[in-house]
Amino acid sequence: MENKITMLPITSIKKLIESFDDAEPSQQAGVLKRMDIEISEFEKYAAWIDADYSRNCIARKEGFEIILICWDQKAKTPMHDHDGQDCWVVQVSGTVVEKRFEINDGKFDLTNEAYLKEGDITYMNDRMGFHTLENNTNSRAMTLHVYANPIEKCKVYNEEKSQFEVKELVYDTVHKIDALSVALNK
Ligand SMILES: [Fe+2]
Repeated sequence: MENKITMLPITSIKKLIESFDDAEPSQQAGVLKRMDIEISEFEKYAAWIDADYSRNCIARKEGFEIILICWDQKAKTPMHDHDGQDCWVVQVSGTVVEKRFEINDGKFDLTNEAYLKEGDITYMNDRMGFHTLENNTNSRAMTLHVYANPIEKCKVYNEEKSQFEVKELVYDTVHKIDALSVALNK
């Protein structure tokens, strides 16, 4: 049962990490909905790669990781899954397109296509299939990705070989915002 205090907006990244750390699994989505953090707070942890995206770790604990992904113009992920974990995406700035797919009779069926706007939150897991994310605009974008538990690897679709491959996930930058965070950059 949530009390009045836990309904308050979360106005800093540090508070977000603490609140997620304190949350039971059933409360995790609610924590993200309380986010009201200035874009300038996220920009402190942003890194940019031409025509690509960067993965910037801002918290990693036993039960979850929080990653800021910075999308340059036209940056795009391959189709991938999430290693059996829960995955939330919060649109911090700009716009990205999420396309979801299921495999039916050996073919990919597009099940959903959503243009995520600032403040939107989406959820994904492997039972819902696979997805791609793409910044198809001429502006940069930032998204916050929360995984519970942390994801070490995922299945990524190789278009040229027409098959999935296991990819080890790495960070482009690591930030220790919370002294208890454990950074595992490989
Ligand atoms: Fe994903």
